Amino acid sequence: TIEAVIFDLDGVVVYTDEYHSRGWRRLCDDQGWRFPEEVSDQLRGVSRMESLQIILDSNGVSATGEEKEEMAHRKNEYYKTYLQEVDESALVPGAVDCIRELRRRGVLIGLGSASKNALTVLRGLGIEELFDQAVTGLDITRSKPDPQVFTLGGQRLGVSPERCAVFEDAVSGVEAANAAGMISVGFGPTQGLDQAGADLLVPDYAWLDIDAFLAGTLWS
Ligand code: BG6
Ligand code: MG
Repeated sequence: TIEAVIFDLDGVVVYTDEYHSRGWRRLCDDQGWRFPEEVSDQLRGVSRMESLQIILDSNGVSATGEEKEEMAHRKNEYYKTYLQEVDESALVPGAVDCIRELRRRGVLIGLGSASKNALTVLRGLGIEELFDQAVTGLDITRSKPDPQVFTLGGQRLGVSPERCAVFEDAVSGVEAANAAGMISVGFGPTQGLDQAGADLLVPDYAWLDIDAFLAGTLWS
């Protein structure tokens, strides 16, 4: 039985994944670099500095540590500007209802996000009280696909890994959940979640039968 569900934030609860992409695209425009669509998916779940490195590599450019710090900072400033526009319309449809349904059934809810802005997003939307525990980019030293963010979440919730499920839109996040020994739910339209080893693919919340999910009959 599942006793806790840990949700990723960007792309699973809120469409802030699109704002992250916008921030990186703007940085690329500043620099005269390309920002191909497939790179956008590769940045899901990946920390700010590692995201920048992926973009640098895909453009075949190098930068000093100081230049990288400045560019990562600039992207974050863009991102924070976009966050000011975030309201309920940016919530992934059905996410809050799903969390409320799970809570009603006594399931503990965690947040497991690589983002250092995660709590700002939750507070801005007034949904922080839906989460019993939140682990964010400020709490971790290793990025997804490392399991740290979810392992720590499970520990804080007091639930053993095999009784935790993780909702993730990122390939790196599904890999992290699997590495943590948790049930991995690949959420949304990202390519490659299946190949990454997701135990269950959930295209959207309308698809999800919560009772069947908690009973464990949706995956083998
Ligand atoms: C993840 C996003 O949730 O957080 C990534 O999927 C993002 O795209 C990462 O780079 C880090 O976010 P932040 O807010 O710390 O730059
Ligand atoms: Mg995500």
